[in-house]
Amino acid sequence: MEGLFQIGTAAIFLSWIAWSLFFAPRTRIYREALKVNDIVFSSRPSLAASRILGDNAAGILWAPYGQQWRNLRKLCSLELLTSRRIEESRPVRAAEVAAAMARAKEMSKAGICVNLTSLLADLTFDIMRVCVMGSSESSRSSAGVYKRAMKESFVAGGEVHVGDYVPWLWWLDLAKVARMKRVHGEIDDIIQKEIDEHRGNSSGSDDFITATLRNDEICRTDRDRKGLISVRIS
Ligand SMILES: *[C@@H]1O[C@H](CO)[C@@H](O)[C@H](O)[C@H]1NC(C)=O
Ligand SMILES: *[C@@H]1O[C@H](CO)[C@@H](O)[C@H](O)[C@H]1NC(C)=O
Repeated sequence: MEGLFQIGTAAIFLSWIAWSLFFAPRTRIYREALKVNDIVFSSRPSLAASRILGDNAAGILWAPYGQQWRNLRKLCSLELLTSRRIEESRPVRAAEVAAAMARAKEMSKAGICVNLTSLLADLTFDIMRVCVMGSSESSRSSAGVYKRAMKESFVAGGEVHVGDYVPWLWWLDLAKVARMKRVHGEIDDIIQKEIDEHRGNSSGSDDFITATLRNDEICRTDRDRKGLISVRIS
């Protein structure tokens, strides 16, 4: 009985040690990270991907938490996600679905296998593209290049860069960085062309680029705009 009691006490003692060594600091760390220093931790770290693909952390995806980030988020939720906006984009969705169906019909008539995965992925991309860039001829013709560059930027951005963790080993990443720069340049050119075209047309097409041009107190430069636009389309 005595022995059993001692084992029991020892077990309680050990579990208390385990708790205080292992779990208690964790809860403390979580509290520090998620409550006390929430603002610091809601920022994104400065990585090679954010510096190059994110254009030095412009745009909503990479921007540090702060007034500008909150403004960008507000613009996105007002210009893309309100029920008015979603209602307004209904004709776009209908047109793009009809176009995709027509493509599928044509392919099946010609006896070509229709790949539904890529058909639906293209459809989603096209709807997003028209909502953001409008349905101009130039945006349609650059869609293929844009889509490929976007895909490549996801791959390039997901790669591990040694220099992010051990800064003096930055030279190990030269090839990856070059690839990111090239892809970013391609995306940047296409969006810049669209912005310039929209700026020239004051006819008031009602897409997201026009909205960013209208809200020039939030999107002060084209860099801010491009940061938002590329994220919206992807
Ligand atoms: C269909 O398209 C997807 C994405 O583009 C691709 O991964 C897949 O291999 C394709 N399937 C066939 C059968 O070609
Ligand atoms: C700009 O205007 C031209 C001519 O009116 C039109 O063809 C083109 O699609 C417009 N571009 C955009 C981005 O709205």
